[in-house]
Amino acid sequence: MAKLKVAVLVSGNGTNLQALIDAAQDPIYPAKIALVLSNVPNAYALTRAKAGGIATAVIDHKQYSDRLSFEAALQKQLQAYEIEFIGLAGFMRLLTDSFVNAWFNRLINIHPSLLPSFKGMNAHRDALAASVRFSGCTIHYVRPAVDDGPIIAQAVVPVLPDDNENTLGKRILKQEHHLYPLIIKLIAENRISVSGEQITFKGVRWASGAMVNPSSV
Ligand code: GRF
Repeated sequence: MAKLKVAVLVSGNGTNLQALIDAAQDPIYPAKIALVLSNVPNAYALTRAKAGGIATAVIDHKQYSDRLSFEAALQKQLQAYEIEFIGLAGFMRLLTDSFVNAWFNRLINIHPSLLPSFKGMNAHRDALAASVRFSGCTIHYVRPAVDDGPIIAQAVVPVLPDDNENTLGKRILKQEHHLYPLIIKLIAENRISVSGEQITFKGVRWASGAMVNPSSV
């Protein structure tokens, strides 16, 4: 079967991109990372993509007078590489309704909190301030509102008493690197379908049991 042609949109370090590149190296992985698009010319993610032999394009938003012309340039690249599906991985530009609707249910994002809690740029800080005992990451279909849309999958980690944004962020990021390749694989295998805002899965296993934190004395 033909592999799903995926573009990964990045702005920064690209550790999630790296996890996807590594997963896609397996010959039986059902998706191909066909393009890495960055809006930041010196994003380290671009170096990772090049090292992985993946096509890259830089669309520097500062060179465009408005969001629509910036997104028209994105679309042009996506078309040129016949992209079928987009994963946002630390992409720090808000996308317009028009772009989001053009890629409806073919556009997903990863966010470092258990949505719908702690949307926005300061997820770890907000989770710590709220004294939650668990946090994690969420992969969701993108809808026009920020960090909104049907939730596909989540991974949970404990929040520990000595945590700061950095330690919590690292613990979550490790789970992101596991979850993102898994979900792109399931999508590429047509094992995830969306109807309205409801998601159904074929042939997956579900978590069982419970976690408690603090867990004992
Ligand atoms: C991740 O924490 C992701 O959840 C968020 O941006 C960060 C990107 O990290 N959307 P990286 O560039 O993949 O290392």
